[in-house]
Amino acid sequence: MSNTDFALAVEDLTVSFDGFKAIDALTLYIDRNELRVIIGPNGAGKTTLLDLICGKTRASGGSIKFKNEEILGVPEHMRVRRGIGRKFQTPSIYENLTVFQNLEVSYPSGRSVWGALAFRCTAEIRARVEAVAADIGLGGDRLETEAGLLSHGEKQWLEIGMLLMQEPELLMLDEPIAGMSARERDLTAELLQRICQNRAVIVIEHDMDFVKKIAHKVTVMHQGKILAEGPMDQVQADPKVIDVYLGH
Ligand SMILES: Nc1ncnc2c1ncn2[C@@H]1O[C@H](COP(=O)(O)OP(=O)(O)O)[C@@H](O)[C@H]1O
Ligand SMILES: [Mg+2]
Repeated sequence: MSNTDFALAVEDLTVSFDGFKAIDALTLYIDRNELRVIIGPNGAGKTTLLDLICGKTRASGGSIKFKNEEILGVPEHMRVRRGIGRKFQTPSIYENLTVFQNLEVSYPSGRSVWGALAFRCTAEIRARVEAVAADIGLGGDRLETEAGLLSHGEKQWLEIGMLLMQEPELLMLDEPIAGMSARERDLTAELLQRICQNRAVIVIEHDMDFVKKIAHKVTVMHQGKILAEGPMDQVQADPKVIDVYLGH
């Protein structure tokens, strides 16, 4: 297995569900500061791949290296601590808490255990909450808004913000613009472009206009394997891709 400078190196990864290979000897490398989009027909294995990377699902074989360390045997919560953040399709924010409180509770625990540092930590947490809130477009007045009152799109951004509080070095988002307005989609594209500047980001998405806007490279999955990979225009012109996905 190779020694790499990639943020993420997935090699020969396989998972079988009752003999069915949902991921089949898949190899994929993601650079640091890269925004990769994964596309492909329903059932291709996209969500399962993210489940394997975040540790929700156990692989049957292969290797997943995060910052060059094997993580296949590392439990899900430890992968979070090492810097892997995952956003699921349904948002999991606290509707009764404010934007500020939602971000505050997402600050990694274990950093403020020392009483003497409590005050400094509070100031530190406030600064981080404000920086992240500004990043997701929910700064200023919006900090005191109850999360339940946010628009659908704003709730999605808040959840991304909650992940950013942990300063993940790899952030994975499964269909982040589903149900968003055109304006919210544009703002989300800008947000993703900002947040990939100091981390690797993997996005699963179906909306090709959106993919074109954000992707550095596109990976096309089909039947648990990689069908094509490269810049958007190259992938879009690939007859195999048109045949199994874009042509429909
Ligand atoms: N826990 C599971 N048990 C059995 N089959 C699963 C499980 N998770 C996913 N699958 C199957 O694996 C395939 C890939 O699913 P998925 O990763 O959700 O595809 P995608 O996200 O690309 O639409 C599908 O055929 C799905 O039914
Ligand atoms: Mg899926």
